[in-house]
Amino acid sequence: VTKTPRPFASRPPVAATLVVNGVPRTRAVAEAMTLLDFLREELALTGTKRGCDGGECGCCTVLLDGEPVLACLTLALEAEGHEVRTIEGIARGPELHPVQQAFVEHGALQCGFCTPAMVLNAVHLLETTAAPSSEAIKDCISGTICRCTGYTKIEAAIAAAAARLTAGAASTED
Ligand code: FES
Ligand code: FES
Repeated sequence: VTKTPRPFASRPPVAATLVVNGVPRTRAVAEAMTLLDFLREELALTGTKRGCDGGECGCCTVLLDGEPVLACLTLALEAEGHEVRTIEGIARGPELHPVQQAFVEHGALQCGFCTPAMVLNAVHLLETTAAPSSEAIKDCISGTICRCTGYTKIEAAIAAAAARLTAGAASTED
C-alpha cells in the first residue's frame, strides 16, 4: 500500500509560563507563537506595538531578562520561564517612570506608536549606564523607527531623564 505522506503537522500547544511585569502568566502556546502574539493576543498587553512584524521597525521592543528584544522575532516558548517587561510594567504605581515623565515634558511623542519601544530602550540604557553620552542615547534608539518626531525631542527627553536620575542618585548618597 502506498501511503501519501501526511503534511507536516506542528505539535499541539503546550502550557508555558512567562513572568510578565513580575507576574507569572500561563497560556497554551503553539510552537510558532511569537512573544508579540503572546503579549498582545493572549494577555491583551497592547502597549507592545505590531509595526512591520518582521524585525525592521523596532516598535515591538520589550525587555527580556532586562535586555531589549524584538517581540516579533522572539518565540513565546523561547521566553518561557523568563522575565518580560513591557511598557505596562514601567510606571512606578501611579507615578510615571522618570523616562516617561521626561517624554511628556519634552513633547517627545506625537502619534505614540514608537513610544513604548523608545521608552523601554531608554529605560534599559539608564539602568545600565549612569551618565550616557549623546552617542549612547542615539545608539539606544537607533533600532526603532519614529515617523513623527525627528528623534531630537526623544534624545532630549532621554538626556533629561538621565540627568534627573543621576541627580537623584547623588542626593540619596549625601
Ligand atoms: S514589529 Fe517587530 S520589528 Fe517591527
Ligand atoms: S511618535 Fe509617531 S512613530 Fe514615533
